[in-house]
Amino acid sequence: PVRRITAPQIAGRKGGEPIVSLTSYHAHTAAIVDKYADFILVGDSLGMVMHGMESTIGVSLDLMIMHGRAVVRGTQRALIVVDMPFGSYEESPAVAFRNAVRIMKETQCGAVKLEGGKRMAETIRFLTDRGIPVMAHVGLTPQSTHVMGGFKTQGRDEASWQSHEDDARAVAEAGAFALVLEGMVEPLAARVTKAVDIPTIGIGASVECDGQILVLEDMLGLNPAPPKFVKVYGTLGSQIEEAVQKYSKEVKSREFPGEAQVYKFKS
Ligand code: KIV
Ligand code: NA
Repeated sequence: PVRRITAPQIAGRKGGEPIVSLTSYHAHTAAIVDKYADFILVGDSLGMVMHGMESTIGVSLDLMIMHGRAVVRGTQRALIVVDMPFGSYEESPAVAFRNAVRIMKETQCGAVKLEGGKRMAETIRFLTDRGIPVMAHVGLTPQSTHVMGGFKTQGRDEASWQSHEDDARAVAEAGAFALVLEGMVEPLAARVTKAVDIPTIGIGASVECDGQILVLEDMLGLNPAPPKFVKVYGTLGSQIEEAVQKYSKEVKSREFPGEAQVYKFKS
């Protein structure tokens, strides 16, 4: 089998050819993404995309592990990164370590991701020192939606830029191997990318980032109301609807199942 891309290999891509990434929650889609992505994120966005939740707050560790396993099984090449869900890492470095170990053991993924800058630096150090590669995530951090008052683009006020840059430097110094920059004004994302020596992965950020990530279902056209930062590359929503509509018609008209879909019996 092909050896998987590693966290240090991703870290080594700073300033190089842009890093390609998408989310995936599911074995068959992950197998396709695996051919092109350097890493696949099993994001806690799965709570909204797969399970219809209003935010990522309700996602459990067990749910992340279940989807993480599916994606690891469905792939062989990309690094698999699994999100630590809300409540599984904030309390203390020891709690974070215990839960990250469960994710790594039970999914066999290659890294975890958690949200937060300066406030999570000690935890990132604790995990990386103990064998767990950590991807950090700053800017718009969806797990803090109730504190931020919704999904708010960051850096609208230039006075906040230094604090975002400090967050990025803190996680880089703490040993994170890469850093997601989500939902921030473009020049801030460009500035943060220059300020740190680990790759930045943008989503709603900047083309200057060292890589890009999108939620797979968003870019495939399955989200009827995608955010502004999504470029829609596919038409899966309308393709699925067309297929389901045709199936419905053929069931009612008894066109399906046809000769080819039934088991013949010769007596
Ligand atoms: O959960 C997720 O999909 C993410 C990406 C948007 C970075 O964290
Ligand atoms: Na996430």
